[in-house]
Amino acid sequence: MEGKRKKYNREAEQLLRKLSTHENELTNSEHFELNEIFGAHCYSPLDELVIEKTRGVWVWDIEGKRYMDGLSAYSAHNAGHCHRTIVKAMREQIGKCDTTSGAFLHKELGPFKAELAAFCGKDMVWPQNGGVEAWEFAVKVSRLWGYREAKGVPEEKAEIIVMRGNFHGRTLAATSASSEPAYKKGFGPFLPGFVWVDYDDTEALQNAITPNTVAVIFEPIQGEAGIKVPRFGYLKAVRELCDKHNILMVADEIQVGLGRTGYKFACDYESVVPDLYIIGKALGGGSVPVSAVAGNKDILGLIEPGTHGSTFAGNPLSCRAARAYLRVYEEEDLAEKSRVMGNYFMDRLSTIFSSHIKEIRGRGLLIGVELNSPARPFCEELKRLGLLCKETHGNIIRIAPPLVITKKQIDWAVKRIKKVLEA
Ligand SMILES: Cc1ncc(COP(=O)(O)O)c(C=O)c1O
Repeated sequence: MEGKRKKYNREAEQLLRKLSTHENELTNSEHFELNEIFGAHCYSPLDELVIEKTRGVWVWDIEGKRYMDGLSAYSAHNAGHCHRTIVKAMREQIGKCDTTSGAFLHKELGPFKAELAAFCGKDMVWPQNGGVEAWEFAVKVSRLWGYREAKGVPEEKAEIIVMRGNFHGRTLAATSASSEPAYKKGFGPFLPGFVWVDYDDTEALQNAITPNTVAVIFEPIQGEAGIKVPRFGYLKAVRELCDKHNILMVADEIQVGLGRTGYKFACDYESVVPDLYIIGKALGGGSVPVSAVAGNKDILGLIEPGTHGSTFAGNPLSCRAARAYLRVYEEEDLAEKSRVMGNYFMDRLSTIFSSHIKEIRGRGLLIGVELNSPARPFCEELKRLGLLCKETHGNIIRIAPPLVITKKQIDWAVKRIKKVLEA
C-alpha cells in the first residue's frame, strides 16, 4: 500500500510539474492520468480521448483528431455544439450581469419564465440547474400537492409510483427512486415513499395505486435503461389512470424532450399532456446547466417563499442560453429535423446485417442498437474510426447525435457502424 502510494505521488508530481510548465503539451493519456489521480472515479470515459474543441456534430481531441459526436452529452447538444445563436446570446450576457441569486430579480428572469411557460403550454415554470434538481423539485411539489385539499393525503404518507429501470439522476432522492442495485449499493439508507412498477405495464400501475398515491413519475422513453420505447397507448393509459385516481402525471423529459425524439415532448407522440414536465439538458444549449419544471398554477402555485430555492437557478447566463435554445428550436425546426433524420438513420441502420445485432429501436434521433454481447468493445472500435458513442446497460449502443446532423453525415456514421458490426 505504502509503495503504491509513493508511486502515485511520484507520477502525480511529474504531471503537476508538466501542468505548471507545459500544460499545452499534456497528451491524451497524461490528461487521463490527471483525472484518474485527482478525481473521484464516477465515470468510466472512453480511453485516450480528451476533447478540446467542439462545433456542430464534430469534436476534436487535444491531438487534433476529429470525431463525430454520437452521444450529444446524453441529449444536451440537440442544437449542435457551440451553436452560433446560443454562443452569441451568452457572449452578450457574460460580463454584463452575473448571478443575483433569488434574493434580487434580474432582467432576464421574467422573460425566460414567460417564454418557457408558453413553450411548454403551462401556466408557470420553476428553473433549476442540473436535471436531477428539477426532478427532485417535481417530487417535492407532487408531495406538497398531495397533502393539500385537492388530494388530502395524510402528512408523511405520500407515495410516488416510479418505474423499474428508471433513471432520474444521482442525488440521494433519485438514487432512492432507482431500482438499479449497482446505483444504490453502499449509499443507503434511502428516502421512503417510492413504489416501483414494471415499465410499460398498465395493469401493474393500476394495482400499485393506493389512496396515498400522489404522482406517477416516469420517462416517456427510458433512455438509460436502453432506449426502451413503450407500446403505443401506454402514455394515454397512464394519463387515464392518473385522471381516474386524481394523481399527478409527471413526465421526466430531461433526455427525450425538446425535440430529441421527433416531437417537442416525447409525450406528444400520443398527444398526451402530463401535469408536470421536467426538462433539462438541451435547454441550456449544451453550454450551461439549465433545467426546469413546468406546470399549472394549481400545482406550482402551491410553493411559497422560503420553502424551496437554489442560488444559481435561473441566473442571467442560464436564462439567456435557454431563451436562445428555444429560439433555435423553433427557427430550425429541430423536432422535425429529428423526425426526418431519425427515420433516415434507422433506415440506413436496417441495411446492416450482423449476427451481433439483436434489435434496433428508438424514436427520432434517440436510437438504441442492442447487441448480443457487451457493447463497450464496439464503442471503442467506433471511437478509433472517429465516431463517439457510449454503451448503456452493457449491451446497447446509444446513438444520439446533435439534431442538426445531415444525411451525408449520417451516411458517414453508418459506414463506420457497419464496418464495426459486420466485422
Ligand atoms: C431521464 C433523465 N432524468 C434525469 C437525468 C439527470 O440529469 P442531470 O445529469 O442533468 O442531473 C438524466 C440524465 O441523464 C436523465 O436521462
